Amino acid sequence: MDAPLKRDYQHDFDLNDPELNTRWDEVVAHLHTGCPVARSDVGEGYWVVSRYTDVVRCAKEWATFSAADGFMVNRPEGLPYFAPGECDPPLHEALRAAIAPFLRPRAVGALEPAIRRHANALIDAFCAQGQTDIVASFANPLPQLVFSVEVAGMDPVDMPYLLEVFDLSGPAEQRASNFALGIARIDAYLRQRAEQAPRGDIVDALLAFEFEGYTWQDKVGTLSQLTIGGIGTTGFAISGGLHYLATHPDARRRLVADHSLIPRAIDEFLRVFMGAPNMARRVKAETEVAGVRMQPGDRVLLSFGAASRDPSVCERPQEIDLARPVNRHLAFGAGNHSCIGASLARLVLQVGFEAFLERIPEFRVPEDFVPRYETANTRHMVSLPLLFDRA
Ligand code: HEM
Repeated sequence: MDAPLKRDYQHDFDLNDPELNTRWDEVVAHLHTGCPVARSDVGEGYWVVSRYTDVVRCAKEWATFSAADGFMVNRPEGLPYFAPGECDPPLHEALRAAIAPFLRPRAVGALEPAIRRHANALIDAFCAQGQTDIVASFANPLPQLVFSVEVAGMDPVDMPYLLEVFDLSGPAEQRASNFALGIARIDAYLRQRAEQAPRGDIVDALLAFEFEGYTWQDKVGTLSQLTIGGIGTTGFAISGGLHYLATHPDARRRLVADHSLIPRAIDEFLRVFMGAPNMARRVKAETEVAGVRMQPGDRVLLSFGAASRDPSVCERPQEIDLARPVNRHLAFGAGNHSCIGASLARLVLQVGFEAFLERIPEFRVPEDFVPRYETANTRHMVSLPLLFDRA
């Protein structure tokens, strides 16, 4: 039997406890045993809302639960704020109206051939080696190439640099300075585009967008959020999914034989290998959630990750069931901030799994491999060594 959790997460939650990396599933299950709102007194202190109905309600009531103070609790000083994720209406509504058309299903559907080309080119680069770290060689680069090159029109030669500086798996102490380098590169790209003839894409829409108080630095923040938002998140659904398939050969063979099973499998991978499970809000008006009174100024963590494993909406929530008939997960959030890149992410996942399973139908992990995760507001697998026959 597993040792008990070291911390009492119901009364003394800590998003930065390293135990969350290894025992996130158990912590979530523990929250669902009679504690719909947990408490943390770490730093500024915050509530943790974990029940499905409560999380959806808070995410929808944006005027009471404001996103404008950012998605991180105990946010490090000096970190810029990113819109649309970290602002409220009316700016939020106007900005989404300007950029969302480029990420709607019809617009992203046209990218399918390009996504397949990128997936195959990435696989070409490692398939003759018989092994690869799939996080670094496929799971993260694929969504990044698709957004940055195909949607935002950046030069492919910049991709390795951007991937390195926006890498969430790198040493924690280097991340802030690396992020600053990435944001500087995005700034330079926007300046370059402002000098060029318009291409009618999302970057031109952003350059043309005007709103009182929304500055050049905010435009850089928006393109940075769009760039970063899809990498580790889509990457974790791919790496988590491929790890599951590597260790469950029957499920893998079913998916290889019948690609029509892939969409449901993807939803289950999104539910379980959730890249953005904990997003913060600031209470603006006195309110109550599951019997807990909250005051203006209180910080609240909406746990989309825990809500997606709420036994009242998900049977056997800890089990991975690739054929789950109903899957009401909140991997893409809820309410006005729900993920603007969801359609793109779904297509990248669909094409990515199809291409991978076609080219490398049999694969496994080394016998002694134990996945390592990093968990806070976001969660991801640090690396995933896969072994397969050289192709
Ligand atoms: C599997 C992949 C993805 C997952 C799991 C994911 C998850 C999420 C979640 C949970 C939110 C809501 C945050 C909140 O309520 O505070 C969100 C918002 C957002 N995501 Fe994604 N995301 C993914 C892919 C993408 C992609 C591909 C892009 C860029 C094209 C993107 C860009 C954004 C942006 C800009 C927001 C803020 C939207 C707003 O506040 O209106 N995401 N995402």
